[in-house]
Amino acid sequence: MTIPLLPESAPFSPAQRAWLNGFFAGLLGLGGEGNGNGNGAASAGAAATATAPAAVAEAEEDFPWHDPAMPMDERLKLAEERPYERKLMAAMAQLDCGACGYLCKTYSEAIAAGAEKSLTKCVPGGKETARKLKELVAAHGATTTSGVAMKSLVAGSGPAATTTNGAAMKSVVAQPAYDRSRPFPAKLIASLPLNRPGSQKDTRHVMINLAGSDLAYKPGDALGVFPENCPELVDELLRVLGAADRPDLRAALIRESSLARPSDDLVERLVECATDPDEADHLTRLRDGEDDWIDTADLLDVLRRYPSARMDAEELVSLLAPLQPRLYSISSSLRAHPEEVHLTVGVVRYTKNERVRKGVASTFLAERVPAGSEVRVFLHPSHRFQLPDDGDTPMIMVGPGTGIAPFRAFLEERQALGAGGKNWLFFGDQCQATDFLYQEELRKFQQDGLLTRLDTAFSRDQAEKIYVQDRMRDRARELWGWLEEGAHFYVCGDAKRMASDVDRALHEIIADQGGLSVEEAKAYVAKMTKAGRYQRDVY
Ligand SMILES: Cc1cc2nc3c(=O)[nH]c(=O)nc-3n(C[C@H](O)[C@H](O)[C@H](O)COP(=O)(O)OP(=O)(O)OC[C@H]3O[C@@H](n4cnc5c(N)ncnc54)[C@H](O)[C@@H]3O)c2cc1C
Ligand SMILES: NC(=O)c1ccc[n+]([C@@H]2O[C@H](COP(=O)([O-])OP(=O)(O)OC[C@H]3O[C@@H](n4cnc5c(N)ncnc54)[C@H](OP(=O)(O)O)[C@@H]3O)[C@@H](O)[C@H]2O)c1
Repeated sequence: MTIPLLPESAPFSPAQRAWLNGFFAGLLGLGGEGNGNGNGAASAGAAATATAPAAVAEAEEDFPWHDPAMPMDERLKLAEERPYERKLMAAMAQLDCGACGYLCKTYSEAIAAGAEKSLTKCVPGGKETARKLKELVAAHGATTTSGVAMKSLVAGSGPAATTTNGAAMKSVVAQPAYDRSRPFPAKLIASLPLNRPGSQKDTRHVMINLAGSDLAYKPGDALGVFPENCPELVDELLRVLGAADRPDLRAALIRESSLARPSDDLVERLVECATDPDEADHLTRLRDGEDDWIDTADLLDVLRRYPSARMDAEELVSLLAPLQPRLYSISSSLRAHPEEVHLTVGVVRYTKNERVRKGVASTFLAERVPAGSEVRVFLHPSHRFQLPDDGDTPMIMVGPGTGIAPFRAFLEERQALGAGGKNWLFFGDQCQATDFLYQEELRKFQQDGLLTRLDTAFSRDQAEKIYVQDRMRDRARELWGWLEEGAHFYVCGDAKRMASDVDRALHEIIADQGGLSVEEAKAYVAKMTKAGRYQRDVY
């Protein structure tokens, strides 16, 4: 229950009042959720700040579609009878990743309230989300004020709000020293390759020094990283714009601007600037959504394709969206590595139109920050992905690829705490010889008796693919036994395919081994979810 802290006469709507009451309750430690792992003191502060509003909102309203592994049509179906802004929310990728500058809920509220015009900001949702938003907005007619007044709640913790409410909060409560709006200038310790030579992948163990920050995370939390763009890409852009002699613009482009798909405002301006009629015509079709080429293009692609559409470089830079931070699941325990945070980063590199494209943050961490140099970071506490309260509770963890990250943290934490619960890890990647991430550490955890079971699925070591869910099926009887003993079941990694395939396997195993019907197996999983025994951290 939330204890009301704001007087009824305070100048807020009921929704705002509820939000603020929860916010203050969280900060003051009243009625907020526990962090579930006996690490309360460590995670108070930053964690509480962000927890309370979510907890209150959830107590009043559920968001059953808020599951990144759920297909779009199912999400929209669940929001069918809900208000306009909730339908918009159901169209988002449900990651709360902050790439749009909001959370899924607040981005949709901002669109519904008419405060946000761009429908293409959900990066992980990509074209699918942009199209659906457009459809929903068109069906709704002209954007109206929906009474949703929290449009300025940006992603991350509460104090990022910039309205008068934000001012009110700032004057009343102490803020965490560092958060998304004031990232901590940490130092990179090292970015070590986890794959062996010959691998098709580049996964890094990134170690960051938090000394001096007081940032206290708990296993299951994520770290936000403010990246910098690749200087070679920036130089090429400035060359194309004829502004190679502008160090001020170069600095802004490296640190502040998104060089990915151009914003709608910029496309609009390019339409106006194009002097070539064919280019103007094509840009108009892009603007009007009649051609989706732009959805997978970056700024350089666009500038090269429309050479007649030029404006002053300064104006162009002002129309670029801000470069947003990326989230990474934390792969260390503070108890095992005081004043450090570790990440497991899959480096994004691919070639398109003969140009090597580099994921901004993953290549920043892998290639561009020298050891000892600055990385701006903040904590993104997790409220739904945590160790069981009871150290004796068995855990089953399914984490292929970078999905292993939080489970390394879970295991380190349980080891440091001397927790006696059984631990079972399913790990998978392409090839055992080159992609067995943290192999030595995992073997050591086994030898120490911490990791009770380790099942691996190396997909490309044989003609037929073998995935983690195949290993789950191989061990169905034991898995069912662990579930019946009360085990928590965790999944981390790819949201698009893996999480739903693992979910299907889990349902099948429960039905087969428990002798349950499809409906009964669904109810069993729903009960696990409600009890916090089925948790997913997928992206
Ligand atoms: C809660 C959460 C936890 C996460 N934890 C982790 C983690 O532990 N480890 C981890 O590695 N990542 C994790 N991520 C993902 C991470 O935040 C970044 O999205 C990821 O590192 C890519 O960011 P980037 O800046 O390097 O790439 P960006 O510059 O953002 O580029 C990525 C984009 O490139 C495009 N793209 C990628 N590959 C291709 C291709 N082959 N062909 C065409 N287009 C392509 C896609 O549009 C993709 O969205 C997590 C995300 C969330 C939301
Ligand atoms: N949202 C984002 O911005 C973002 C950014 C980066 C990564 N990601 C996601 O994060 C995932 C993690 O990347 P990663 O490089 O660590 O590992 P990954 O690509 O998930 O691969 C790890 C292992 O999982 C296997 N796999 C593929 N499909 C599967 C399925 N349906 N079920 C179970 N296992 C499956 C892979 O096999 P094969 O490859 O041999 O099929 C591989 O053996 C990526 O798949 C990507 O979708 C998202």
